[in-house]
Amino acid sequence: MKLRLADGVKFAAAGVILVVALIAGVAPFSKTFIEHWSRRDVEARSRLVYNAIQGPVSHALATGDMDRLGSIFDGVAQDNRILAVGLCDPSGRLLKPTKLMPPTFSCDNLPDEEAGNFSTLTRGRQNILVGTFPLAEQSGKAHLIILHDLSFIDVRSDTAQTFVALTFAGFAVVIAGIAAIFVFFMLRGWMRSLQMAVEDVRSGRPLSPERRELTPIDAQIQTLLREIGRVPFETTQIDWNPDALQRLLHDALPGAEVLIVANREPYIHIRTGQKVTVQTPASGLVSALEPVMRACGGTWIAHGSGNADRETVDRNDKIAVPPQDPAYTLRRIWLTDEEQDGYYYGLANEGLWPLCHIAFVRPTFREEDWHAYEIVNERFADAVAQEARTEDPIVLVQDYHFALAPRMIRERLPRATIITFWHIPWPNAETFGICPWKERIIEGLLGSTILGFHTQFHCNNFFETVDRYVESRIDRERATVTLGGHETMVRPYPISIEWPPRALASQPPVETCRAEVRRDLGLPPDIKLAVGIERFDYTKGLLDRMKAVDALLTSTPSWKGHFVFVQVAAPTRSKLFAYSNLQNEAEALVEEINQRHGEGDYKPILLIVRHHEHDEVFKLFRAADLCIVSSLHDGMNLVAKEFVAARDDEQGVLVLSSFTGASREMSEALIVNPYHAQEMAQAIETALSMPAQEQRERIRVMRQQVQERNVYRWAGRMLLDAAQVRQRQRILDIGNRNREQ
Ligand code: F6P
Repeated sequence: MKLRLADGVKFAAAGVILVVALIAGVAPFSKTFIEHWSRRDVEARSRLVYNAIQGPVSHALATGDMDRLGSIFDGVAQDNRILAVGLCDPSGRLLKPTKLMPPTFSCDNLPDEEAGNFSTLTRGRQNILVGTFPLAEQSGKAHLIILHDLSFIDVRSDTAQTFVALTFAGFAVVIAGIAAIFVFFMLRGWMRSLQMAVEDVRSGRPLSPERRELTPIDAQIQTLLREIGRVPFETTQIDWNPDALQRLLHDALPGAEVLIVANREPYIHIRTGQKVTVQTPASGLVSALEPVMRACGGTWIAHGSGNADRETVDRNDKIAVPPQDPAYTLRRIWLTDEEQDGYYYGLANEGLWPLCHIAFVRPTFREEDWHAYEIVNERFADAVAQEARTEDPIVLVQDYHFALAPRMIRERLPRATIITFWHIPWPNAETFGICPWKERIIEGLLGSTILGFHTQFHCNNFFETVDRYVESRIDRERATVTLGGHETMVRPYPISIEWPPRALASQPPVETCRAEVRRDLGLPPDIKLAVGIERFDYTKGLLDRMKAVDALLTSTPSWKGHFVFVQVAAPTRSKLFAYSNLQNEAEALVEEINQRHGEGDYKPILLIVRHHEHDEVFKLFRAADLCIVSSLHDGMNLVAKEFVAARDDEQGVLVLSSFTGASREMSEALIVNPYHAQEMAQAIETALSMPAQEQRERIRVMRQQVQERNVYRWAGRMLLDAAQVRQRQRILDIGNRNREQ
């Protein structure tokens, strides 16, 4: 295409040069030509006049009729081209000169006849053609003199020169116009070709044959497409693991720098007396992203929330993690209590969290929380700009704590690839309309390059929300939203866990886990055990599963003494009433149910309120006969996936709420409505009595599913999409550069 553009420009330039050359060369020549031609014309006229009057003149001369001679001459001199007429007699006297005969004219130096009849006389700037014609023999050696003023020739040649110049200038304009039209159509064709090729890439179509051979720019596009094609990842065939993810980064995103923005840090330093310990938080987000960062390296920017966090970082607030085997950097951001109250507890967890989860807890929105949220988002965006070593890092923005950050980061690093993942559900448009700052949140998120949700359903809710509250262009087919010229891809990326889970490696055999856990909990070795393990959050349906246990023991009392439900709940956000109240309610309910169905040492429900590290969680999973996940609403729920991952013995039953994202993928679980205690009780009973073979069949399918669709695939698919967006951006940049040239 460069060639074609250059051809057009050269064509126009050559035309203009040619015309200028013509003007420069032909214009002087035209002057000479006109002068020559006009002089010949005047000479011919002189001869004509001579021929016409020589008879009467000779006669008048012969008869001595000088009056007659004078009147003939006066008559001829009427012609406005003829300056003067006269007669030179043989003695060299000038007879009967007409009025305008120049006084300097003399008959003494008439041209000799051999040299022709004409000579030129100059008077000031006036050129005069002197025609000298011999009269008949009988007149002696007399000569008729006819003088022509040649000034008109100058005027005529100047006019002709101007005309020629104008004519060629006209040609030049026409040629330039044709060249401009040529360039315009060529550019338009090229733009179309480029757009179609980009469209082809976008939609995954191969380049159509005519476009494939069309122009050099197509060749460039093809080269880039081949580069895209070189990304050796056919997602369905990949065995996703840390190596595959590293290879992807290396091949598809060479040299890319990865930065994570997340509220929760993967390692929290806690001081108890003289001792500092490291805790990994109970967070689905952390469980998912930590292995990804181990594989990719980079920097994780998070709130430093541990009481020993400050004493463990370097002077740049950084620390290499994981502590035993550093693979990436943790950069801690310090928040004041006020900032944390407004941004984390307030806007994020009393506003957005209940807004996005259908758990019937009223969201609370306060102006001061919003301001703190804005400030903290700015601070994290600043930290990203500070940490970035390149102008186009890949920034993974996590969750509802940072809805404004994507746009803020884009303002600071316009070429960054920003992948935002919303870990919680996105509600319908009407519900989201409750948020007083809905437009700002949507606009903030649309600063992202890619915006991910767990399910297509949440993507659809997001599109509807954007459609209702923000002026933008939504392309449902391509799943994009364009706001202010910036396009954001909105896609589902179901999150998952690492495979194989690290915590599994150190686990004793299932039989050992069963025995040890029962012993540690003071339970008989043969007791049937159900477990629930999560943060103490009202969205998890903790009270509902306790009510289901109550319903089971009421409907089937024979399970009393043979079945125990252990609920491990990690305290979370306890500062908030909804959370502290839940804990109180749960403790009271456990008390009540245990009183109703317990006997002696037997308590049907054990509530353990403390944080458990991964190893302990996995041990519990392996010891259990079933796991209950009864979330009232959950973006994905990784507990469900961890449970099946922990069961390499292919035993154990998963009771799973239909309101989790996980239930879309794990249909071999016993899917329940957590709001219906009897239905859940029935599912627990089914699980308790399920034959080993059926348990195996079900869990095997789920394990395979989690193995294949693990967290490396989750991150890998987002990074692959990011790689393609970056390639497309490169194509558009090339196009823009070509157009600027
Ligand atoms: O579900 C959203 C989420 O960010 C999870 O990814 C994580 O499990 C949980 O919230 C963590 O909550 P917090 O960081 O407030 O303890």
